[in-house]
Amino acid sequence: MKAIIPAAGLGTRFLPVTKVVPKEMLPIGAKPALELIVDEAKRAGVDEVVIVVSRAKELVRRYFEGDPQIRFAVQEEQRGLGHAVLQARVDDDCLVLLGDALVLGCDASSEMVARSRELGGAAVIGCERVPREKTSRYGILATAPDGRIVDMVEKPAPEEAPSDLAVAGRYLLPKAIFSLLASQAPGKGGEIQLTDAIRRLLAAHPVYAYEYPGRRQDIGNPDGYFAALEAFRRLERTTKGT
Ligand code: UTP
Repeated sequence: MKAIIPAAGLGTRFLPVTKVVPKEMLPIGAKPALELIVDEAKRAGVDEVVIVVSRAKELVRRYFEGDPQIRFAVQEEQRGLGHAVLQARVDDDCLVLLGDALVLGCDASSEMVARSRELGGAAVIGCERVPREKTSRYGILATAPDGRIVDMVEKPAPEEAPSDLAVAGRYLLPKAIFSLLASQAPGKGGEIQLTDAIRRLLAAHPVYAYEYPGRRQDIGNPDGYFAALEAFRRLERTTKGT
């Protein structure tokens, strides 16, 4: 199993600092956020981590160069998350961890790998419950009673949302996803959307929701970043008992 961390996005929600510092490299304590995500992937037992970067993200390469478990793929044009994942194409199942999404308070990727094993190798999408009135900010899952995903709806209005389960930054996908991405037509915003390819995967492959016990922190905007710092500090204090 491989891990893919897309980190080639433009970071427009976090300008102006992202003109020179990729949001994925902002510090959480003494480490860049991206390193915490790389560490999470490694704990899950992957044999290679592929970080997807743009030409503008030289800092990411410099920071991780020399790590024998890490390779880089370049996304020349920012054509969406699905397109970014495709640039890292591997001939293996893969964990996809969004480079601007920290999951604190649990070991989401390891838990998803364990869940997939229990399910006989099914794909697993990490998710969390969100307030009903906020469903229009997320990808929302429709699931069968056993947790199998039957549909995914991008940013539905609360009255149209099939549940309050939101896709939350972590995916464990079979290698079949790459041929689906390669033939995926552009969707919302003219971008190649990972969600669209996963929707096509649902027909051929079992895909289950896994509600991880931690919280996803979106560090892609200043408010989310501050919230992540606070949550990280709180957890540190609890673990150290200070
Ligand atoms: P976002 O949806 O936050 O997009 O990407 P973005 O472009 O980085 O941010 P804004 O909207 O301009 O502020 C989620 C993750 O997917 C990566 C990003 O780097 C981020 O880690 N991504 C997104 C890519 O690698 N390539 C893309 O084309 C889009």
